[in-house]
Amino acid sequence: MTTPVGNITRGTTAPNRLRRCDRWLIHMECSRLSSLEHAIVIDLGYGAYPVTTRELADRLHNSVGDDIEVVGLEIDPQRVQQAIPFEQPHLRFRRGGFELAGMHAHVVRAFNVLRQYDESSVQRSWQEMYSHLAPGGLIIDGTCDEVGRRSAWLAIRKTADAVAAPQSLTLSTQLASLGKPSDLAERLPKALIHHNLPGQPVHAFLQAFDRAWAINAPHGTFGARQRWIAAVDLLVQQGTPVIGDRKRWSLGEVTVPWSLVAPTV
Ligand SMILES: C[S@@+](CC[C@H](N)C(=O)[O-])C[C@H]1O[C@@H](n2cnc3c(N)ncnc32)[C@H](O)[C@@H]1O
Repeated sequence: MTTPVGNITRGTTAPNRLRRCDRWLIHMECSRLSSLEHAIVIDLGYGAYPVTTRELADRLHNSVGDDIEVVGLEIDPQRVQQAIPFEQPHLRFRRGGFELAGMHAHVVRAFNVLRQYDESSVQRSWQEMYSHLAPGGLIIDGTCDEVGRRSAWLAIRKTADAVAAPQSLTLSTQLASLGKPSDLAERLPKALIHHNLPGQPVHAFLQAFDRAWAINAPHGTFGARQRWIAAVDLLVQQGTPVIGDRKRWSLGEVTVPWSLVAPTV
């Protein structure tokens, strides 16, 4: 048996909180996961009760198929005991930490977990998870507000590189309640939140996004969705290397390469 790596932290969670990330995950990984014989998807740090793990399992089983084992891993043994009654075929709960209880996962979703750690432990935690990922596997390190209206996450794909590094940052928001894109700054993952300062790339990106949003205020007549799409379109015209297309933007989502926002030292 492995010793769980990490610390017990606050267990705040809520139903449907991670829907935005689940939707993106299914879009991104559906074909890879369905091509695997027996995919393992880990929900790391599910919190006080395992509702987000259950939802992830339901969504994956409905859209990708039944041959996916969803495992809720928690470092708090009491939370594991409380989750066991909710096990069902292809959904189980175990004690574990960043070492992934020794499993070779195809996807690890760690949402609202690393935000409670020091920034200095982020790279080490990514690396620990990365070393247990199956080739081509994906780590999602994300953060959101209490009800999941504002979300941000990093995607870290297992490549031939020995060092874990994100490939992208995704922002996803309910548009009706959005004042401006930089309102999402308070939900940035730990690796970025302390770098949202003048002179840093993530700050420059959010400022450019706010300007594009302001310029496209007239599109607000047709609704916040049209305004968001027009703002992202303007970013693209200005040379921002946005990943993904209008279908994603229309969901209140935007994804950019990590190289655009990575902190400079
Ligand atoms: C704020 S809750 C997040 C719950 C859920 N993921 C969500 O977003 O609603 C964070 C949980 O992560 C757990 N946790 C912290 N570090 C962990 C680690 N290294 N491995 C597994 N669980 C961890 C904590 O015990 C806590 O229950």
